[in-house]
Amino acid sequence: MPSLICIKCGDVYSVREACWKCDCGGLLDLTFTAVFDRTAIASRPHSLWRYREALPLEDDRNIISFGEGFTPLTTFKMGGREVLVKQDQLFPTGSYKDRGAAMLVSKAKELGVKDVVEDSSGNAGCAIAAYCARAEIGCQIFVPASTSPAKTAQIQMYGAQLVLVPGTREDTARAVLAAVAKHYYASHSWNPFFFHGTKTWAYEVWEQLGWRAPDTVILPVGNGTLLLGAYIGFNDLLAAGEIQRMPKIIAVQSENSAPLARAFWEKLETIPVIDKRDTLAEGIAIAEPVRGMQIIRAVGASGGDFVTVSEAEIEASLVEISRQGAYIEPTSAATTAAAARYLQHKPDSEVVVTVFTGHGLKSTEKMMKILDHSNPDRLG
Ligand SMILES: Cc1ncc(COP(=O)(O)O)c(C=O)c1O
Ligand SMILES: [Zn+2]
Repeated sequence: MPSLICIKCGDVYSVREACWKCDCGGLLDLTFTAVFDRTAIASRPHSLWRYREALPLEDDRNIISFGEGFTPLTTFKMGGREVLVKQDQLFPTGSYKDRGAAMLVSKAKELGVKDVVEDSSGNAGCAIAAYCARAEIGCQIFVPASTSPAKTAQIQMYGAQLVLVPGTREDTARAVLAAVAKHYYASHSWNPFFFHGTKTWAYEVWEQLGWRAPDTVILPVGNGTLLLGAYIGFNDLLAAGEIQRMPKIIAVQSENSAPLARAFWEKLETIPVIDKRDTLAEGIAIAEPVRGMQIIRAVGASGGDFVTVSEAEIEASLVEISRQGAYIEPTSAATTAAAARYLQHKPDSEVVVTVFTGHGLKSTEKMMKILDHSNPDRLG
């Protein structure tokens, strides 16, 4: 039976308890042995639930699914170099967050949870709201008042109650804490079940490469839900003897919001307080990531590094990707910009996989601004 363990004091909780945090205030991790049977996996429908024995849910009847997952692994050019990309912008709600929401909301249903709360820069809120709608679980989503209207409309259309919080993303994280006393916290940064959904990114890459791990993965990092999920996923595959080594993890932040890159490069013991500036990459602009030190340790253990990108690089990369026919969020273009830079000095033989994390339709206002200043005559 899997269990929840506090990373601060070591206390253990049952997965049959609806808890997301230790009584001491520490973060919980899930201990769980993932099992892989290649023949069974290959015979199942193309959704993330094909890795059923690796997903910590007791009863199949609790699965809440839209048939999500197994996104295409497709080649795109970045900085003129070809690279493999998981097209996770094609998930039902338009971002990879559906991986985490599918697992977490299924678990919430298994626990008999009736209402959840979540705080988000937008995409995780959309994902939790959609899966709660399907599960008929009540849902309240806190987002910064500045969140893109496409995301706030999407959250409300799913029937969730939207709470707009003035100020920064950190103000939103503080505002939700009053609500979590009464409701289950379906948090993508605190709740360990979310990470046991995002880990399917690693499983799919492994299967789509012919049951092999890549040499390198290039992933965005704000709260690290995809990065830590991928790290758990590749570790599961290592522990099961399915791969021989952990891919190198290259973690991407925007130059305007890079507390983790600084902590990593300066070998700090805590995440530094930063003076966060506006960035096109709103989804990874997280000044106080709760799992910050875990992220830094994961990148270090993989032999990886951080890359930070400028606003000009993000915009140029967004245009380069769009011109190849993929419509992605500006946040996702931070990762593709980093991939372009990383690949400049690497041999063709290095197998590199990166990701499109969110759909461009979420960010029409930002796209219009980019169009306007790249072509001022466009409207007249
Ligand atoms: C489009 C997009 N990309 C990347 C991220 C990265 O977030 P995290 O580090 O939490 O995985 C987010 C988070 O909201 C996002 O919305
Ligand atoms: Zn504890």
